[in-house]
Amino acid sequence: MPASPSFLFVTCQVGAEAAVKSELARRWPLFRFAYSRPGFLTFKLPEDHALADDFDLESAFARAYGFSLGKISGGAEDEMARAAWKLASAAFAAGDPPLEKLHVWPRDMRAAGEHGFSPGLSLAALSARAALLAAAPKQSKIALGDATATARPGQLVLDCVLVQANEWWIGYHRARSGPSCLPGGLDDLALPEAAVSRAWLKMEEAIRWSQLPLQAGEQCVEIGCAPGGSCQSLLARGLIVAGVDPADVHADVLAHPNFTHVRMRGADIRRREFRQTDWLMADMNVAPTYTLDSVEDIVTHEAVRIRGLLLTLKLPDWRLADELPEYLARVRSWGYPHAMARQLQHSRQEVCIAAWRDSPKRAAGKSSRTKKSRIRE
Ligand SMILES: C[S@@+](CC[C@H](N)C(=O)[O-])C[C@H]1O[C@@H](n2cnc3c(N)ncnc32)[C@H](O)[C@@H]1O
Repeated sequence: MPASPSFLFVTCQVGAEAAVKSELARRWPLFRFAYSRPGFLTFKLPEDHALADDFDLESAFARAYGFSLGKISGGAEDEMARAAWKLASAAFAAGDPPLEKLHVWPRDMRAAGEHGFSPGLSLAALSARAALLAAAPKQSKIALGDATATARPGQLVLDCVLVQANEWWIGYHRARSGPSCLPGGLDDLALPEAAVSRAWLKMEEAIRWSQLPLQAGEQCVEIGCAPGGSCQSLLARGLIVAGVDPADVHADVLAHPNFTHVRMRGADIRRREFRQTDWLMADMNVAPTYTLDSVEDIVTHEAVRIRGLLLTLKLPDWRLADELPEYLARVRSWGYPHAMARQLQHSRQEVCIAAWRDSPKRAAGKSSRTKKSRIRE
């Protein structure tokens, strides 16, 4: 294992670089910002940092990160691949734990949503990965079979970020769980044809990342549900869903037997209506404090005991990212000690907060109700 890696690299949404910098300045004041391109940053680490290769950066805006070994620039793809392995082999001496997986991904080339751009793997990244696999030392575990790039928790991963077509940054991390098992934290979810909005992707990713133990038959309310893509994701899990929104919900969603449209603003529903609700989602195109005020009114009502929350907070101004620690503290103060945040791959200029009352394991299967009534239309 490289004795003490000197640099950290981070990939994030284009536009979120300043948010990453200020998160790291707060949490890791000794890290020194070194270099950045849109969607990609590096930081010089203090000499005696002693960080484990699976340390938690505790950053909502870093989509992926690892220790940097340096960059390769210029040349044909196969030459770059050979040079990348030279870097890796110099860092990992014989006797070090073996590299087991290879993650190759591009930095985001545009802001999410700009000209229809969606963060994800690119053809160039797939091609670079093929070149790196072809150039891998014959005895390496990576060369011996890497059909899928998805790592298992605990596996040591060689990282390659395509900052430009001819500029690759090489690094490594040990997969923890969730996004760190995926190349660049990027999933390959495809929007189903039947999905009525891209929010389906956002909800799928939020559920996978947060691991909220949603179970079929439980009651869920989404405030800001129209046209209904995220509700489709919840309905497909067998949940009983009430969607609250003054706007129109797509006919396909309305036709689902487990869906009720409550055509009003979240603030206009009587709080007691939420007393059978297990899970509360919010995805309103309003200021973060409006969403938090609305949710606080509901979850702090004495008759309501919602187990978990998934809240999308829009950040129309990136400077609002600095308020995230306060937003999280506020959510915790409602009786949700487990609250975490992530800027999702499938979301735009916004952040997702997941929160629950008990640890996910303990929360699983805790709902004692058998017959449930829906929130009223
Ligand atoms: C980003 S869209 C939601 C997308 C939706 N989750 C989906 O899956 O298609 C934001 C929605 O918030 C709704 N909205 C805004 N303010 C609201 C409020 N006070 N109460 C309920 N819905 C609200 C808007 O009408 C709009 O439909």
